[in-house]
Order: sequence, then C-alpha cells, then structure tokens
Amino acid sequence: MNRRLLRPLALLASIAVLSAVSAALSAQAAAKPSLYKRLGGYDAIAAVTDDFIGRLIADPRFEKFFAGASTDSKGKIRQHVVDQLCNAAGGPCLYTGRTMKQSHAGLGITEDDWNAAVKLLVASLDKFKVPEAEKGELAAILGTLKADIVEKK
Ligand code: HEM
Repeated sequence: MNRRLLRPLALLASIAVLSAVSAALSAQAAAKPSLYKRLGGYDAIAAVTDDFIGRLIADPRFEKFFAGASTDSKGKIRQHVVDQLCNAAGGPCLYTGRTMKQSHAGLGITEDDWNAAVKLLVASLDKFKVPEAEKGELAAILGTLKADIVEKK
C-alpha cells in the first residue's frame, strides 16, 4: 500500500484504540463503588465490628469461647476481624490472621452458635443502619466462611 494512505490509516487506528481505552476507563469510573465504600469505609467497618464483638462477648452463649482470653488477645481478634471484613469488602486492608479453619478448629462451634452469631451481627448492622443490599452482600461473604468455622451440627 502506498505510504500516503498508510499514515492516515495508522492515525485512525490509534484514535480507535484511544477511544476504546477511554470508554473502558469511564465505564470503570461509573461502576458501582466497592462494598467497602458503600459500607462507609474503614471507620464504619471498625464500628460495626466493635459493636458485634461487644455483643458476642456479652452473650452468655459465647462466654466459654472467650473465657480466659486477655484484653490484648481479644484486641488482636478484633483487629483481625476488622482487617478481614475490610479486605473482603474490597477495601485497602490486608488480612494477616490465621485461616478460619486454623483459628476455629477445636472450638466445637455448632450450627446454632453460628446462627446466633449471625443474629448478633445483623443487630449491629441494623444499629448502624446498613441498607439491606449491603447487609446481603456481607452475609454472602460470611457465608463462604461458615464451613471452615462450624464443626458440629
Ligand atoms: C461471623 C463469622 C466469624 C468470623 C468472620 C470470625 C473471624 C475470626 C478471626 C479473624 C479470628 C482471629 C484469627 C487469628 O487469630 O488469626 C477469630 C478468632 C476466634 N473466633 Fe471467630 N469468627 C467468626 C465466628 C465465630 C464464632 C461463631 C465464634 C464462637 C462461637 C468464634 C470464636 C472465635 C474464637 C474463640 C477465636 C479465638 C481463637 C484463638 O485465638 O485461639 N468465631 N475469628
């Protein structure tokens, strides 16, 4: 092909590539914000976690699980849960704790314990007025952990 024709063709091709890239970028910008952002970011996740753990520790059903844990140990569990939720919701946190299997194996957590814990978490989410859609997304994330946490029927 002659050179005179090739130049404008190359120019057209570059314009096409650029406009495709720009369309992809604006689609990304218009995409739904992460669950992390919709929940209100780190502080909101930390506040829900504190409320949830407060309820868990105050409930006689869960007393045996945390009996003997020092304030420092409970603080570490709390921080791991915050990081885990933040990370799973698409936030900028890194979860550095043990796997759910490692940290819950041998505790003998039952299906009823699990359901009771989920109820307490929902109470915390309701207290902070987390909308149904975000509550559902969080419940789906936690649902993926259940098999590694619950040991007994
Ligand atoms: C809602 C789902 C749950 C999540 C996301 C969760 C998450 C976690 C995390 C991140 C840790 C710390 C891991 C580490 O130390 O490296 C932990 C520890 C622990 N969890 Fe859970 N957990 C859940 C449910 C439960 C339930 C239902 C119970 C009790 C019935 C429970 C009892 C404990 C205990 C006792 C520890 C401390 C274990 C140890 O340090 O030896 N967890 N959990």
